[in-house]
Amino acid sequence: MTSTTTADSTALREALVREVVANRAHVGAPLSPAVEKALSQVPREAFLPGLELSEVYADQAVVTKRDAERGVALSSVSAPTVIALMLDRAEIRPGHRVLEVGSGGYNAALIRELVGLDGQVTSIDIDPDVIERAQRCLSGTGYDGVHLAVVDGEHGFADRAPFDRIIVTAGAWDVPSAWAEQLVAGGRLVVPMRIRGLTRCLTLEHTGEGHWCALAQDMCGFVRITGAGEHWEDMPYLNDTDGQRVGLRLEDGPDVDTEALRAALTQEPVTAWSQVLVAYDEATDAQDLWLATVIDAWALLTADPGAVKAKLVKPTWNHGTPALIAPDSASFAYRTLRRHPDREDRWQFGAIGHGPSGLAAAERLCALMQEWDRDHRNGPDPDITLVPADTPDDQLPPGRAVNKRHTRMVLHWTGTP
Ligand SMILES: C[S@@+](CC[C@H](N)C(=O)[O-])C[C@H]1O[C@@H](n2cnc3c(N)ncnc32)[C@H](O)[C@@H]1O
Repeated sequence: MTSTTTADSTALREALVREVVANRAHVGAPLSPAVEKALSQVPREAFLPGLELSEVYADQAVVTKRDAERGVALSSVSAPTVIALMLDRAEIRPGHRVLEVGSGGYNAALIRELVGLDGQVTSIDIDPDVIERAQRCLSGTGYDGVHLAVVDGEHGFADRAPFDRIIVTAGAWDVPSAWAEQLVAGGRLVVPMRIRGLTRCLTLEHTGEGHWCALAQDMCGFVRITGAGEHWEDMPYLNDTDGQRVGLRLEDGPDVDTEALRAALTQEPVTAWSQVLVAYDEATDAQDLWLATVIDAWALLTADPGAVKAKLVKPTWNHGTPALIAPDSASFAYRTLRRHPDREDRWQFGAIGHGPSGLAAAERLCALMQEWDRDHRNGPDPDITLVPADTPDDQLPPGRAVNKRHTRMVLHWTGTP
C-alpha cells in the first residue's frame, strides 16, 4: 500500500459501496443489505498490496497474473460490482458451507463475512501461485478461517463437501458432475457460463441428480477456466492479414468450409435492413442469446479494429457479432447497425451477406431479428435447464439443446414451439 491512511481507505470504500449500490439499482436488481455490509467491511487494499488506494477502490478487476508469452490474463481480483452481483445471486446465509472455485482472497473474505463463524468457506484454485498469494493476503486481515487448496475446480473439493453454495469465478463451458455431487439438492451454483460463444453468469439451482434450472442470467466476463474443464472453440480466420483479421468463433457450432467462406469475404457485400430499432446505448444481449438459440449454423464474427477501418466488415461488436452460415456453406451473413435514416435518436439493425447466397442469408438474419422484436423483446429471459449428458432426446425439455461434456443445456423461449 502506498501513501495510505485508514481514513482514506474507509472513505474510498464507502464511495465504492455507494457506486455498487447505484449500479445495481440502475439494472433493477438492488444490492442486498448483507452484501452491502460485507463490501463495507472487507479492506480491498489487503488483497491488492502495492496498488494506489484510488485504483484499489475503483470498480474494476485488477489483473494479478498474466501469461508470460501471450499477455493473456490468468488471474485477477474481480470487479466489486460483478462480485456483489454473484454473491447476491447466491443468496449466501449465515452458517452456509460455500465453495469458491477460482481464488484471490477478496471474494473469500466477503463470503466469510456472509457465512459468519458458523459457516465454512473453501476457496480453491488450480494455480499454486494464486493460492500462495491469497494465503498471504488473507492472513494479514484476520480472515484466516478460509480453507485454501490447490485443486482443479473440475473435481470440486470432496474433502469439504457437501456445499450449500458453489461460486465459480472463472469462465466455464460446462457444469462438471462433481459440482452436482458435492452441492446439496436445492443448493445454488453461480457460474459464468459460455453458451454458444456468449457468456452469461447463470444462477443455477440444483434440483437433484445432476439436473439444474437457471434462476437468473446476467451479463459478465471472466478469465477462462483452465485444466480438465478447459474448452476451446474453433476460430477460423476469413482474413488473416496482421491487424485486419476477421474470424468466426464457432462454439458448439457447425463445421465450416473455411476456404469457401474466405472466398465469400472477398466478394462484394450485400446489405438487408430489418425494422428493428434500438436506442444508442440499449443492450442487445437478449437478442444475441435469442439468435444463438434459433440459428443452427451459428457463429460469432470477430474483427480487428483495422479490419473495420479497412471496411472489410461492419459488425455491431468487434469481439463477437451474431452471424449465420448459409445452407450452401459458401455464404454467410452477420449483424450490422446504422443510424436510422429518418430518426436521429434510433439505430437500425441490418445484416451484411457475403457469397453466392449472401443476400438470402442476410434476409434470413433480418427476419430472425424481426421475430425477436415481435415475440421476445419485451418478454422474459429464456428458461435454461441442464440435464446429465446421457439424457436421451425424448427426455429433454422442449427447446434448443446445446451438448457439452457432462451436461446437455436446453434453452427455451416462452412462446417458441
Ligand atoms: C478472476 S480470478 C478469481 C478472482 C477471485 N475469486 C477474487 O477473489 O477476486 C479466476 C481464477 O480462476 C482460476 N482458475 C482457472 N481455472 C481453474 C480451475 N480449473 N480450477 C480452479 N481455479 C481455476 C485462475 O487461476 C484464477 O486465479
